[in-house]
Amino acid sequence: MSRNIVIFDTTLRDGEQAPGCSMNLQEKLEVAKRLEKLGVDVMEAGFPVSSPGDLESVRAIAGIIRDCTVAGLARSLEKDIDAVREALAGAASPRVHIFLATSPVHMEYKLKMSPEQVFEQAAAAVKYAKKFCGDVEFSAEDAFRSDPGFVCRVFGAAIEAGALTVNFPDTVGYAMPAEFGERIKYVKEHTPHMEKARLSVHCHNDLGLAVANSIAAVENGADQVECTINGIGERAGNASLEELVMAMRVRKDYFSADTRIDSAQIYAASRLVSQVTGVKVQPNKAIVGDNAFAHEAGIHQHGVMEKRETYEIMTPESIGIPKNRMVLGKHSGRHALEERLKELGLAVDAETLELVFAEFKDLADKKKLVSDRDLEALVMGTAAAVPETWKLDHWAVNTGSALGASGAIRLRHKNGDSRKVISMGDGPVDSIFRAINQIIGREPELELYEIGAITGGSSSQGETMVKIGWEDRHWNGRGVSTDVLESSIKAYLSAINAMEWELASRKK
Ligand code: KIV
Ligand code: ZN
Repeated sequence: MSRNIVIFDTTLRDGEQAPGCSMNLQEKLEVAKRLEKLGVDVMEAGFPVSSPGDLESVRAIAGIIRDCTVAGLARSLEKDIDAVREALAGAASPRVHIFLATSPVHMEYKLKMSPEQVFEQAAAAVKYAKKFCGDVEFSAEDAFRSDPGFVCRVFGAAIEAGALTVNFPDTVGYAMPAEFGERIKYVKEHTPHMEKARLSVHCHNDLGLAVANSIAAVENGADQVECTINGIGERAGNASLEELVMAMRVRKDYFSADTRIDSAQIYAASRLVSQVTGVKVQPNKAIVGDNAFAHEAGIHQHGVMEKRETYEIMTPESIGIPKNRMVLGKHSGRHALEERLKELGLAVDAETLELVFAEFKDLADKKKLVSDRDLEALVMGTAAAVPETWKLDHWAVNTGSALGASGAIRLRHKNGDSRKVISMGDGPVDSIFRAINQIIGREPELELYEIGAITGGSSSQGETMVKIGWEDRHWNGRGVSTDVLESSIKAYLSAINAMEWELASRKK
């Protein structure tokens, strides 16, 4: 009989802590709902002690997720575990995930603790968490570079203290697949009381081997894999959920293991994470890249037309890429839009549908055909948007090769005030962003400004991603318009609104 492998998704924690992947609360809630629909067994929602914002987002996620376990991360410290307890108070199925490093380099230089102190603190932390939460996971950070016998001892103590899962991370992505598989076999066989707990793995991708190592672990007895959508995560990322799941699904003949993931939800989850983080999926990425099902060479196209299996080992539909590539236009009605959104896995509630429909009509007036990517952008801009402190009224830019650029903009504050400013700048975008800064009375640092086209062709909408920083916090913004300057303004304002919203909620 096939074993069930537990999928522990850490997109909202390890993924979100990666450079350029931060998400605001609305975005995290959208991702959490999508992960629940995908069927992950556990979602790690954040690291509550790391900031008040993180605690609040874990609390908000725990409040809405009902069909899967919600985990919060803690160091082996009572104050961290208390923060997880507070954040997960409303969870249907809470898990405390405690970690402590066991490798010589981490113990000596980072923790400044002896192995015996680590051993005792790990067991004490699990015992403390067990007082209020039945489901405790213990991770031996940097386990792969640790003494295997020592990890088994620490795992044994954690299990004795009540841990139901012990997790073996390759924190720095150093292992080779066969070697990692051997190590997992060893740990499974030598950890005291292993029969009372699940063995999990958490692999990083520094040498591009995170998925291969996780698979080797499954073959050698691991019961849980930790992974993220699109493989986002610290440095080179974590094992990619979609690759792990589809490897086990497509090669059922090889594995006697599967997951309870609804693979038809994979594509929508991947698109959502890419949209809200602004981190694009590389075109040749396995499973979800734009080229994953594209056949360019004539000989391949011919083969696929004759018999799909000649060059395809899975169907696009099996991961939720809609078969019918119908595009909508200005004569399409609300019903056609609603149906298409459903097919794309982007179903929205009635109120959001009204907003998206209005934007869709505007766009269809400017552009003959509205593609799936355009729809995705409209839905993300609406469903994951934060309340607007500042709304765009109108703007104008004067620029040319002989003159400098000047930008004029009028914004409306949520309290009804309108403010207009004209500013000079180094180019049209700079002039308009400076004018916005003058209106809002802050000068956040522009850490990223990226502009691209949603689809090909000159009638494509421009899509702008920005990232701003203020007092050690960072916010993403995205904007879409048929005019690239307007998409830049929208992106900047959406980041400003995310910042204003968070700063205002902090004051409360
Ligand atoms: O990579 C790692 O070791 C981690 C732990 C906190 C599980 O992310
Ligand atoms: Zn990690």
